[in-house]
Amino acid sequence: MEFDSSPGESQGVSKAPPEAMSADLTKLGSHLISKIHVLMRVSLIYDAKNETFRQFSQESLQAVNALIQKERMVSLKILKNEIFLNEERLRYSADGFTSFKYVLTHWKKKLIGGVTFRELVDERVLNEFIFIFNSLEDGKEDNAARFTKRLADCGIDFVTVTPLEKSVSEEEDTSLEREDNREVAKKVFFETIGTVKDMITQIEGKQYPGVRKLKRLVQKTIHLAVEDESILLGLTTIKNYDEYTYNHSVNVSIYALALGRRLGFSRQMLTELGLTALFHDVGKSKIPKEVLNKPAGLDDEEWVLMKKHPLMGVETILNLKQLGEINPRMVIGIFDHHLKGDASGYPRLFRKKEISLFGRIIQIADVYDAMTTPRVYRKPWTPEQALAFMLRDRGKHLDPTLLKILIGLVGIFPIGSLVLLNTGELGIVFKPNADSKWMDRPQVILISRDQKGDVKKELADLTATNGGSQFKRTIVKTLDPNQYHIDIAKYFL
Ligand SMILES: [Fe+2]
Ligand SMILES: [Fe+2]
Repeated sequence: MEFDSSPGESQGVSKAPPEAMSADLTKLGSHLISKIHVLMRVSLIYDAKNETFRQFSQESLQAVNALIQKERMVSLKILKNEIFLNEERLRYSADGFTSFKYVLTHWKKKLIGGVTFRELVDERVLNEFIFIFNSLEDGKEDNAARFTKRLADCGIDFVTVTPLEKSVSEEEDTSLEREDNREVAKKVFFETIGTVKDMITQIEGKQYPGVRKLKRLVQKTIHLAVEDESILLGLTTIKNYDEYTYNHSVNVSIYALALGRRLGFSRQMLTELGLTALFHDVGKSKIPKEVLNKPAGLDDEEWVLMKKHPLMGVETILNLKQLGEINPRMVIGIFDHHLKGDASGYPRLFRKKEISLFGRIIQIADVYDAMTTPRVYRKPWTPEQALAFMLRDRGKHLDPTLLKILIGLVGIFPIGSLVLLNTGELGIVFKPNADSKWMDRPQVILISRDQKGDVKKELADLTATNGGSQFKRTIVKTLDPNQYHIDIAKYFL
């Protein structure tokens, strides 16, 4: 059986809600946050007279005044884990994440919840603002009042500072942190799909783009995997993004990175592995679309062509710009990803050779994603069916150790499985239990809808008891989501 990936059906996937804030304002707002971020950092090293400080101070001034001119005032407010600009939530790009996080964390530490500038600001005002901020002690309840008073003492009465709203309890904060990671993960995920798509389009047009942008995205993905891997694994349930090939590459890289982490790879190695996984099928850009898009049953000649894609992939990445980012491990990984343990598979080898570790990792990730993805000509396998099949097949084709790690990674009930609970409720496996003793008791999302018919996400931990020794809920069996017309990916967006 062949689980190679060809572009499948292109049903739309639910897109992110439309931006509430105009693109223009979002851009100015994000720019301002990034300038404030830099200025806050620089102000910890230099004083107001320093040239470097003054240069950054000028840039911040321009950023804040551009907004005041446009909007007549600027109010920045922190609510939970978001920044609001003039009462509208400011969305950050994946690139802006560090700045947002820095400003949020440092303002929160000093219990500052917001600032309003009601007039154009000059260098003196901005400097007072930054240095008074620095002088505040962490965690002092009256910091905001103190701040506003000190500004007024300097004759600045058009800048008001407000305290952080207290509703953010410790517990709520961790769940918000998770929510925050989720938003960033989604952004990085879709941005990676978009970047892979752009690169392949360029390659099809015989242009060879650089790899640094993609490398940065892989580094961000690794960072997110360290914070909370289950969010990324949840995103791999999105199987029918407009263009399957790109989505597939990103999914394969997420699984590959998760495997690499369990093998103790360094960040450097993980970055190389992630990039290799994203490029594993790049050779397909050289195969005519009629062949690629053929739902099933390639003829002999077409198969010969299809089997060339690993080699064509090698050729392609060796032609990319910034070749310094590509090393032999990556090239060999691409070459190997369809070779099988007994040296069958393709490309045909004259002499048997060991399959490289990158090749073996990508192969496992590739097969798992391809099997669990719907195609025009067949329904997808459930995660459980796919793993069972891979286990049966393991001696011949797949690396048994890596396969074991994959199973541990997705759990006995893999993330995204639809399960029936003993309460009669349906659930979707959301996160494996961190304690291996409770592998059969993951966190699940209970499937329900609110009165408007919108999907409601209620999270249940299957280790929860009724107070005594009885568990509230237990998985009875897994179900096929296709039979229940349930779009699993919706629950992860
Ligand atoms: Fe693939
Ligand atoms: Fe492939």
